[in-house]
Amino acid sequence: MTTIAVIGPGAIGGTIAAWLAQDPAFSITVCARTPLDDIRVETPQGVITAKPEVLTDPGKARVVDWVLVATKTYDVDSTKPWLDRLVGDATRVAIIQNGVEHVRLFEHLVPAERLVPVMINLPAVRSAPGRIVQSRHGIIAVPAGRNGNALAALFAHTEIEAAAHADFLSQVWVKLAGNCAAIVPALTLRATGPVWSDALEAIVRGLVEECVAVGRAEGADIPEAVIDATVANARNSREGSVAGSIHADRLAGHQMEVDARNGVIVRLGEQHGIATPMNRVLVTLLAAAGSPWVKS
Ligand SMILES: NC(=O)c1ccc[n+]([C@@H]2O[C@H](COP(=O)([O-])OP(=O)(O)OC[C@H]3O[C@@H](n4cnc5c(N)ncnc54)[C@H](OP(=O)(O)O)[C@@H]3O)[C@@H](O)[C@H]2O)c1
Repeated sequence: MTTIAVIGPGAIGGTIAAWLAQDPAFSITVCARTPLDDIRVETPQGVITAKPEVLTDPGKARVVDWVLVATKTYDVDSTKPWLDRLVGDATRVAIIQNGVEHVRLFEHLVPAERLVPVMINLPAVRSAPGRIVQSRHGIIAVPAGRNGNALAALFAHTEIEAAAHADFLSQVWVKLAGNCAAIVPALTLRATGPVWSDALEAIVRGLVEECVAVGRAEGADIPEAVIDATVANARNSREGSVAGSIHADRLAGHQMEVDARNGVIVRLGEQHGIATPMNRVLVTLLAAAGSPWVKS
């Protein structure tokens, strides 16, 4: 029996825990901040349910084979009490988050050789603890190698498509290029499509071009077409639509992953001597717009 602990049973962690719980070869423990009784996920393949062990006290956690962390990026440090109890000599720790800094964010908590960064494309929304809607097919990418291959194998009997990639770096940067433009609706609190103009396009295109330039300086292979595709998405967004979690989080008055999605472009741009004025201005404005917790 493979033991798996999921820290952070929100939209992503809850969906992953429920899918893995369908496999009788796994014993799933959910490490929650907010208690839940069970998990019910509406998926494209139908409703799946799970009743894993749920812990809210890190003191009750035991060493497992795998830890899957699915908190938001700004909650990384709060996972330490869980990791201290769950991680033993052979435990591997998968980080299922957006952004490009999975390893950097956790290497002070877990030895780097045990960390498995995970890129996930799986749109999911949580309506209540343990109640989730997964709206499209889920895809997971991990780096090729022993740990990445082993992580991908965990999903072999689920409907989540998991694959190891020799060029994982490009996977996360392509996703970031698609995500970074959502800072505009997060700031304006409305879809960009209905208010599209040449000036707005210049801002959106600038955000994405800066991300692509920094990603390429980091070594990522990012097709030029990603820029036009991201701009087209922003241009075609409909009134009332929500452009990803950063927009949804600001609408809900929640903390936002702005540092992981746009701040990182500014920080890494500085290291490479690449100017990132669009990202810098919007990160600063979003911080000034009334979210004092956002890192600028
Ligand atoms: N949702 C999506 O469609 C989607 C798609 C792709 C990637 N992602 C990325 O996946 C990551 C997770 O996103 P999400 O949408 O699943 O967020 P979420 O719904 O907010 O879930 C995060 C979960 O982490 C829990 N948590 C935070 N700190 C904790 C701690 N110290 N111990 C235990 N649990 C803790 C939260 O507890 P509470 O229950 O108390 O809030 C919540 O259940 C993010 O990086 C996001 O950008 C999300």
